[in-house]
Amino acid sequence: MHRRDAADPLRPFRARFALPDGIRYFDGNSLGALPVDTAAGIARTVTEEWGQGLVRSWNDADWIGAPQRVGAKIARLIGAQTHEVLVADSTSANLYKLLVAAVRARPGRRVILTEPGNFPTDLYIAQGVADLLPGIEVRSVPRERIADAIDATTAVLMLTHVHYKSGARFDMAALTRRAHDHGALALWDLSHSTGAVALDLRADQVDLAVGCGYKYLNGGPGAPAFLYVAEHLQATLSSPLTGWMGHAAGFRFEDDYAPAPGVSRFLCGTPPILGLSALETGVDLMLEADRAALFAKSEALTTLFIALVEQRCAGHGLALATPRDPAARGSHVSLRHAEAHAIMQALIARGVIGDFRAPDILRFGFTPLYVGYADVWHGVDILRDVLQTGEWRQARFQQRAAVT
Ligand SMILES: Cc1ncc(COP(=O)(O)O)c(C=O)c1O
Repeated sequence: MHRRDAADPLRPFRARFALPDGIRYFDGNSLGALPVDTAAGIARTVTEEWGQGLVRSWNDADWIGAPQRVGAKIARLIGAQTHEVLVADSTSANLYKLLVAAVRARPGRRVILTEPGNFPTDLYIAQGVADLLPGIEVRSVPRERIADAIDATTAVLMLTHVHYKSGARFDMAALTRRAHDHGALALWDLSHSTGAVALDLRADQVDLAVGCGYKYLNGGPGAPAFLYVAEHLQATLSSPLTGWMGHAAGFRFEDDYAPAPGVSRFLCGTPPILGLSALETGVDLMLEADRAALFAKSEALTTLFIALVEQRCAGHGLALATPRDPAARGSHVSLRHAEAHAIMQALIARGVIGDFRAPDILRFGFTPLYVGYADVWHGVDILRDVLQTGEWRQARFQQRAAVT
């Protein structure tokens, strides 16, 4: 494994993260690790731009342009045009804005089509949108049948590209095409895809997308999220959150709302500059990496983990919950076990950090920028030990914290 790490073209990136010694970090799909440059970047934003520049920094440090500037950088990671992506708000809020806009752009169609077990915020936002808009309903259809469920009643197909729990990946191009064939729009949640798997939104003709800043983009806890609106839709869609930052000329302070041209109309309030500063550092770091190497490594790490777990942890009741075909999964792998929570707690106590997703999933994220092949080997070694010794049975591993 050390030889594989030595030959890894992405190996130098590991030193660009401030990872604690002795930790095998397999939860970058929940909260990405801290880039070394982030603290200095935020310190500069705080002490120089805020402290010295004060309000002048909205212009002088281009704080006001940060949502579009960082959005343009993310666009390069997801195969979008630079003017199609914006950093703003949370993934949940962006989903709300785009979903309402999309439903309104398909009058006469009543269905928001999604799958049961989609990430909860996606389902809750869709339910809220259906409550808000007369005649609109949410229809949840299992993924095996979702393509066939798209029909003339579908306003929007709303799916998460890589499933947060199982890691299963939809065929975004095929489903988007199918939605278009039936006159519907497709809205994708890319939270577990961006920086994890190859994305080409333009080639896949994706209409709308949202994604997270704090996972593979390493933007820090609660980092602002991004949204994508395909160029051809930008003039016709309108945001339901008509704040002054999305106004055509916010600093004219007019009484009446007029949407900004382009994707900027999906801004709402004042951008969170400290969060944007941290996110920009994370995105810049990812942009330094060769994209093909990044996604090849995601595949190699997940494949290695699955193989090692099956070879070395057999007989302990673990079941693979993630597709074996690398093209059908993202960059995390989930294992089912009736005692998944206690086992994960025991792993964390041994420095192997993944997470637990109720009711029975042990989830391991493999972030190609800083996870190495030897990490995977050691992680599985400790998993085997925890299972063999029954260490997880200790009372201290049975309690559940607020965040699992
Ligand atoms: C698929 C997906 N969507 C959205 C979110 C989170 O949204 P928010 O940042 O608004 O909490 C997550 C968080 O894990 C997620 O996995």
